[in-house]
Amino acid sequence: MEIRVITGDVTKIEAGAIVVNLFEGVESLDGDIATVDKALDGAISQLVSQGEIKGKLGEITVIHSLGKLPAARVVIAGLGKKPELTLDKIRGVVAEACRLLQKKGIDDAATVVLGAGVGDITPESASQTITEGALLGLYSFKKHVTKEPEYGEIKQLSIVATSEDDVHLLERGCDEGKVLAEAAKLARDMVNEPANYMTPGHMAEVAKKLAQDYGLELIVLEREQMQQLGMGALLGVAQGSAQPPKFIVLSYKGKGSDEIALALVGKGITFDSGGISLKPGNKMEEMKGDMAGGAAVMAAISAISRLKPEINVTAIVPAVENLPGGHALKPGDILTAMNGKTIEIISTDAEGRLIVADALGYANKLKAKLIVDVATLTGACIIALGNVCTGAFTTNQELANKVIAAGAKTGELIWQMPMYDEYKEQNKSDVADIKNVGGRNAGAITAAQFLAEFAGDTPWVHLDIAGTSMSDKEHNYLAKGATGVPVRTLVNLALAIAQCPSYQC
Ligand code: BES
Ligand code: MN
Ligand code: ZN
Repeated sequence: MEIRVITGDVTKIEAGAIVVNLFEGVESLDGDIATVDKALDGAISQLVSQGEIKGKLGEITVIHSLGKLPAARVVIAGLGKKPELTLDKIRGVVAEACRLLQKKGIDDAATVVLGAGVGDITPESASQTITEGALLGLYSFKKHVTKEPEYGEIKQLSIVATSEDDVHLLERGCDEGKVLAEAAKLARDMVNEPANYMTPGHMAEVAKKLAQDYGLELIVLEREQMQQLGMGALLGVAQGSAQPPKFIVLSYKGKGSDEIALALVGKGITFDSGGISLKPGNKMEEMKGDMAGGAAVMAAISAISRLKPEINVTAIVPAVENLPGGHALKPGDILTAMNGKTIEIISTDAEGRLIVADALGYANKLKAKLIVDVATLTGACIIALGNVCTGAFTTNQELANKVIAAGAKTGELIWQMPMYDEYKEQNKSDVADIKNVGGRNAGAITAAQFLAEFAGDTPWVHLDIAGTSMSDKEHNYLAKGATGVPVRTLVNLALAIAQCPSYQC
């Protein structure tokens, strides 16, 4: 779908449909909807006064203009109560409206700048949000379906600027929205791709394509190089699979110096069977998505390289398959990580923290100033936070505040969890420096405490996306399957740190 900004009078737009917005509880219509209402001889205000249209959030009404407007249909999108409007609500409503129009076979739609001017919503941010909502809402993963799709795609969406003055701002918002949505869609595609396609080798191929397309530097370490670096924790997980592990390092240089301001580490388990500590069969197919953290950091750095902030960012993805082969890691085994710490394996299903541990070791070897890791790390995080928010864990509150603020702009909700030293007790081993499972209680926190040992003194935030990386239903701008969380947050974070390198503002 092409999204563009045009100028003109809303009553003159030629399109299959024009989208206008209605707030809940308004007495009389004003702005664009009033202009359209007039052209329709008061049809909208009549429906409103009859109580048929209420403007409730997500309420979408389609009326035919029957020749009274050049646009064949008017779509009235309910935005809820005006003071409660947020960018994320706009994103969701646009997605729902676009899906409805697509199902009606409309291939050319236009929309007013929904929500601009309400509260602190600027024309630029509204335009960005509309673009994200449309692109993310119309996303589907049908690559492996051979049957023809039921309905065609909306080919064009025009965002209508009523004043020439806004065009530049709207275009800027639209461009940024495209970059962010395309990155989130890339992450979704990677996560939705089944594990027989999305192997560690294939993840490295995707990285190669991104490096070529966006001018990123790429290093892919093979097993021998990982051995030389002493990545025993990662290699322990890899040894049960016939798929060779790949250690992917993608770098964006937006600044002259060699210093890496931000390392983004993403868990890249392309399939998590649990290994010898085999998972139950129920829903095991969902474990193709255990590389969602890796996909997110790769997608994020591609978007960062397109937006070109003045900052150096490196994405690090340990890509490994966790299978119970004849050479597999066993409970009771002891591994030595890259930073020299020894780990007693209690469960081979707690594999994410093992590969992320060595990736954190590598980020520290590169002397990254800040580290954010993203991982579908624990079922316990889903128990704690459900699929509503990502869990954040940190040893550095300032960085956590930055990450949470970057997330707030995107609607990707983040909730910080405690990291009291008392939890470390649970990870103590009798035979090694640490064990890889700290028991059932506070499982998301003990997993984070495990990672903290490998993040060392570098300011670090861990994001557990086990609950948020996949959606079990189509909802607002989420499709069933991968969500692309937290790609847009990570991009915003890099932009924010570039603006303020001390990351204290
Ligand atoms: N990849 C899983 C966590 C997960 C579970 C992600 C469900 C998404 C949905 C992780 O590797 C895992 O298996 N964790 C174990 C840890 C346990 C053995 C300490 C878990 O959460 O059960
Ligand atoms: Mn596991
Ligand atoms: Zn896993």
